[in-house]
Amino acid sequence: MGADRARVTIFDTTLRDGEQSPGCSMNQQEKLRLAQQLDRLGVDVIEAGFPIASDGDFESVKAIAETVRRPIIAGLARACRPDIERAWEALKHAARPRIHVFLATSDIHLQYKLRITRDQCVAQAREAILLAKSLCDDVEFSPEDATRTDPDFLCRVLDTVVEAGATTLNIPDTVGYTVPSEFGELIAMIRRCVKGIEKVTISAHCHNDLGMAVANALAAVSAGARQVECTINGIGERAGNASMEEIVMAMRVRPDRYPYETGVESEQLFAASQMLSEITGVPVQPNKAITGRNAFAHEAGIHQDGVLKNPLTYEIMTPKSVGVPDSKLVLGKHSGRHALSIRCEQLGYTFDRRALDDVYRRFVRLADKIKHVEDHHLLELIRDTHKPTMSATPLIEPIVDATNAAVVSAPAVDAKEMAADTNPFGVPLPVQSESHHEQTQQEDYLWGV
Ligand code: KIV
Ligand code: ZN
Repeated sequence: MGADRARVTIFDTTLRDGEQSPGCSMNQQEKLRLAQQLDRLGVDVIEAGFPIASDGDFESVKAIAETVRRPIIAGLARACRPDIERAWEALKHAARPRIHVFLATSDIHLQYKLRITRDQCVAQAREAILLAKSLCDDVEFSPEDATRTDPDFLCRVLDTVVEAGATTLNIPDTVGYTVPSEFGELIAMIRRCVKGIEKVTISAHCHNDLGMAVANALAAVSAGARQVECTINGIGERAGNASMEEIVMAMRVRPDRYPYETGVESEQLFAASQMLSEITGVPVQPNKAITGRNAFAHEAGIHQDGVLKNPLTYEIMTPKSVGVPDSKLVLGKHSGRHALSIRCEQLGYTFDRRALDDVYRRFVRLADKIKHVEDHHLLELIRDTHKPTMSATPLIEPIVDATNAAVVSAPAVDAKEMAADTNPFGVPLPVQSESHHEQTQQEDYLWGV
């Protein structure tokens, strides 16, 4: 990557915020396994858990801190002594420990949740950072619900914690309320107004309640944030957190818009996504960007034809670049002859154009009945096409009349043209007519359809 590109720190919180999503809790062994994959992936910071939350969480953070040595290992703490001391106890043997302290700053949270005044909030934040700093050099502070906090008060809190020694200011959109332009302006305002900001890293922590977590995180980076907090597969509280794979690949695929680099080995993204899904038992949504099973699958015939000729026609990144074994041509009713012929070849059958048409007609009928035509269906269908009179399976009907065949076959074989002649597989052949040349041209055009 170019030396002119700014480096963005990838802070993974799959094991903390991600684990807070329903059905995603993990035991110590599973957390350690995932932390090792996050290490292979090249993330800069692993937030391993919330040590005060439970003995299990404490032990997991401790085990990760003692075992995973390259990345920074962070532990979460509320802005109070017991939390901070417990976090340090879990983290103290890490090669690079970080204490992450959070305290809500919005009036809604101060009045209804914490029942403290703004002045009390500032004092508590200051005390907490001083304590954390006395234990650990690397201290992150998060003003929870920052995007619904009065901006002047937010700057007052941030001035205070920077003075007390915080090294990273993380700005959470806790409730997923902000939008990219607004969040970018908030980060720019913090850069302009907070005293001592040049000494610290600004971070973004975005939730996905309006489906804008990734866009908001990228807007923050464009406005000067140099750390993003994210999770594998975008898991996290409620609608989840910003998805790491989407942020990393947006920067990789669009360096013209996002000229930043990360330490992430993007080829490890798919493996991390699969491992998380396997551990939690929560499947990845099929159309999930980057890691969903359809992210590189093509079913429409025109798309399949294009991808087979040149993947750039319908793929903006290679499957390999994110660790997906290969792009998948899904055979369904929208598939065309081109994809079908390639799959037949992969199964050991090569057909000339006519023979392929026969297989294709049956294939379309079958695909109309069952959504995805798997290899075993196709093999059965090929065998059946070789012996049309013996077909007795309920799924795959032999071609019984030419009119029907014309309906399912895109190259419009007119019923009038059908003659008693059959092809080598015993299927009736269309009579060669004057329109044959036109038909061949049309077939060429419809190759992908
Ligand atoms: O969403 C949030 O505000 C958080 C903080 C603890 C950083 O997860
Ligand atoms: Zn969060």
